[in-house]
Amino acid sequence: MPSSEALVFDVYGTLVDPIGVARELEEWMPPADAAEVARIWRQKQLDISFRLTAMGRYEDFGWCTRKALDHALAVLDKKVENSDKESLIARYDNLEPFPDAAPALQALLDRGRVLAILSNGAPAMLDAILDATGLRRYFAEVISVDEVRAFKPCPRPYHHAAIRLNRTTSRVRLVSCNSFDIIGAESAGLRAAWIDRSGGAFEPDGSPPDIVIRSLTDLLTALTPETGHED
Ligand code: 2OP
Repeated sequence: MPSSEALVFDVYGTLVDPIGVARELEEWMPPADAAEVARIWRQKQLDISFRLTAMGRYEDFGWCTRKALDHALAVLDKKVENSDKESLIARYDNLEPFPDAAPALQALLDRGRVLAILSNGAPAMLDAILDATGLRRYFAEVISVDEVRAFKPCPRPYHHAAIRLNRTTSRVRLVSCNSFDIIGAESAGLRAAWIDRSGGAFEPDGSPPDIVIRSLTDLLTALTPETGHED
């Protein structure tokens, strides 16, 4: 069993910027409404995933994304044709990568780190986004929660990732901007690094991990021996 710490990356909000969805929505509504629909859409997408798992049910993240979009449009009483909704869903599959993603991933690879994806995204969604962004080449494994039919922060996806990476949970560090994900990973026995992109508050039911950085650019430095986090 390898002793080196593997890094597993969240996708939406960590590697790719969901803001592109709000820009797409502006084709059908004023910017302020588009931003609000995008906000409700993202929150409801996660809310549905949490509740499905709490009920012991599973539908893939594409299903959660579609249901959440219908809800967000209904809340703001926005009428969008089905064909246009499909265009919006398709936008989710070709979001822009954050500018710090590729350089940071390359620097980690150059230092011999093992990198993987651990995402709620359905396999087809992850295939699409990793091909669209060109980020696939950095990852030894692409792990969708679909493999265990339970969404993060349920412990099963995190334990599954450690198994897929042939490591104990303590030798896997989750890298995510989503503090619910950080809490879930540490609760499952993984280490974590929070990418606090927005400078927002951490979820009230947990506390920030031993690595808190504002961008992926700082991750390699945060993992070096001087900071006590190297393997
Ligand atoms: C993920 O990529 C939903 O951002 C979360 O798993």
